[in-house]
Amino acid sequence: MIRASLRSLDEADRARLLAWRASPHVSAFMYSDHRISAEEHDRWFNGIAGDSRRRFWVIEADGAPVGLTNLADIDTTHGRATIARYIADPAVRGRGVGGFAEFKVLDHALLQMGLRKLWSEVLETNAVAWRLHMSHGFQREALFRGHVVKNGQPANVVGLGLLSEEWRMIRPVARQRLIDKGYVAEALDGPIPD
Ligand SMILES: CC(C)(COP(=O)(O)OP(=O)(O)OC[C@H]1O[C@@H](n2cnc3c(N)ncnc32)[C@H](O)[C@@H]1OP(=O)(O)O)[C@@H](O)C(=O)NCCC(=O)NCCS
Repeated sequence: MIRASLRSLDEADRARLLAWRASPHVSAFMYSDHRISAEEHDRWFNGIAGDSRRRFWVIEADGAPVGLTNLADIDTTHGRATIARYIADPAVRGRGVGGFAEFKVLDHALLQMGLRKLWSEVLETNAVAWRLHMSHGFQREALFRGHVVKNGQPANVVGLGLLSEEWRMIRPVARQRLIDKGYVAEALDGPIPD
């Protein structure tokens, strides 16, 4: 059984996140291919604090940091935000931690923060990621053809969306799936840092 949790970022994450983002195990799935410099990373990291449009959480498994999840473009006028995540260590993938993080952020955004909708963009080739969203109730709303240039080639991007009422309906199914994978009810139902 894996004990997973989400925590707020701290200063020690600055170097960790740059290393994770530069890792081929993560960068392969991101839009941009360029190598992120320390200066660019510092600007990004420093900008998180005090930015009400973005929230980040480090995903931990058995007490060790293993990935990052976030809400971005938080728009209170329209009640929506984008959601994303990665598990940096491929050895931790496929054990439910990504699903756990998805579950926790959906609860936080749609039930605690009161947003109406979450949406996400995923490379079409990244079927594990868009299927993970769909198993939590997201619907495929768009196919953006040739939307980004990845490895020098145009790549399609899938746009997915989830309404809060859809999450309320599918939440018990997603919760039971995680319980069947060994996640405990207290960890699933408890709050995450704001
Ligand atoms: C996408 C990602 C976050 C999923 O996290 P994870 O911990 O591996 O996912 P889980 O173990 O919770 O599995 C989620 C589902 O995907 C399935 N899955 C996981 N890895 C899989 C694989 N390699 N092949 C097929 N299915 C897979 C699981 O069976 C599970 O399905 P289920 O819920 O029906 O049982 C992770 O693979 C990752 O970090 N990928 C690289 C970064 C990335 O793509 N981020 C998203 C960019 S938009």
